Amino acid sequence: MNRDQWHSKLGFILAAAGSAIGLGAVWKLPYVTGTSGGGAFFIVFLLFTILLGTSLLLAEFVIGRRTQKPPIEAYKELAPRSSWHLVGILGIFSSCLLLSFYAVVGGWILTYFIRSLTGGLTNPPDGDYSTLFQSIISNHWEVGAAHLVFILLTILIVQKGIQKGIERASTIMMPALFLIFAVLVVRSVTLEGAMEGIRFFLQPDLSSLDGGTILFALGQAFFSLSLGVSIMVTYSSYLSKKESLVRSAFSIVGLSIFIAFLAGLAIFPGVFAFGLEPSQGPGLIFAVLPAVFSEIAFGSVFFSLFLLLLLFATLTSAFSLLEIVVSSASYQRPERRRKAAWLGGIAIFLLGIPSNLSYGVLSDWLIFGDTFFNQVDFLVSNILLPLGAFLIAVFVSWGLKPSTLQDELLRGSSLSTGFFRVWLFFLRYITPAAILAAFLDVLGVW
Ligand code: PHE
Repeated sequence: MNRDQWHSKLGFILAAAGSAIGLGAVWKLPYVTGTSGGGAFFIVFLLFTILLGTSLLLAEFVIGRRTQKPPIEAYKELAPRSSWHLVGILGIFSSCLLLSFYAVVGGWILTYFIRSLTGGLTNPPDGDYSTLFQSIISNHWEVGAAHLVFILLTILIVQKGIQKGIERASTIMMPALFLIFAVLVVRSVTLEGAMEGIRFFLQPDLSSLDGGTILFALGQAFFSLSLGVSIMVTYSSYLSKKESLVRSAFSIVGLSIFIAFLAGLAIFPGVFAFGLEPSQGPGLIFAVLPAVFSEIAFGSVFFSLFLLLLLFATLTSAFSLLEIVVSSASYQRPERRRKAAWLGGIAIFLLGIPSNLSYGVLSDWLIFGDTFFNQVDFLVSNILLPLGAFLIAVFVSWGLKPSTLQDELLRGSSLSTGFFRVWLFFLRYITPAAILAAFLDVLGVW
């Protein structure tokens, strides 16, 4: 069977970075940093990303590239007659849940983009963009339609396949995102009063850390590299055997960290310069950025452009979330790709409706004290992702033969076996221990 493949290594890196970079860095990290005390949180997040994130990313790559199969089949091939394929099923399940609320936020961005073109965002009463945000997202028909359109866009690209769909879209969208971000950061850090925001973002106050925030930082590190749900297994299964996994992984982690920095630098100076609350939660960027852009010459044009790019970043992540479902459903019968994309996409849309309504008619419907939207996000980001990451680390480092791992990891690169040993050590001991410790802490064990 002739399986689709990435056309080039750069295409793979941009698509994988496209999956990694998205709402995690631009929407979530700023507000979670804001509610978790600022700089200290960000530093812990960086440490987790560099040390644990990179090693896990490589672990997922090894599984996918070795087998050239989608997750369930990949785990079955590497560990026949065992239950490890359940990790693949868990990944697919988590991805569906994740995409269900991810697409809701994608819809908000789409709504903002359209409104920015039609003047529906300018000059709210008293310059209060937070209230404007609340009123927009509780408008069911508008955000509901946008939610649906966002899913349809995702389906349209994914059904076309790897090279013609996902790779082509990512190679245009990602470089454009970097450019516009640079413009935004320059304006943001030169606002009057910007320093206080930069300090909040980069100066760590260690007293704000506790087990809960550390687990959050861990979840956030996995979330923003798309780890723990076997998405990177899926993407790397389309990678040619010639390419170096390690170099690709470094590029992807580097790009994600870079964007996370830029996002913080774009947002926090604005928060403080305009006297807003950094801890206001999911609406943060929607309240802050319109205010920052209104201070820029041709601000409304730049804001539209920015929203368009943020929409791209969100879409490239959504592609990967749907791709894991589609690649698994159509592996035996590639001609089923289109059907799988449509059925999967629509089912995920329906699953997302209660999340969408959480900001309107269902806002009083609380499950364990929080809205449906927040609970699904919490379940995926802070439980399923770290759990998946734990299982993948254990599977790769304890379940597979070191010689196989070394062969796959170092193929096409000039790195020494020393690198391999350090990597294996991290996967075997440090990563599982860190995840376990964070879980136990949240359960109040110590
Ligand atoms: N990494 C994406 C983001 O930061 C979210 C994501 C998580 C995508 C897990 C796929 C899998 O927005």
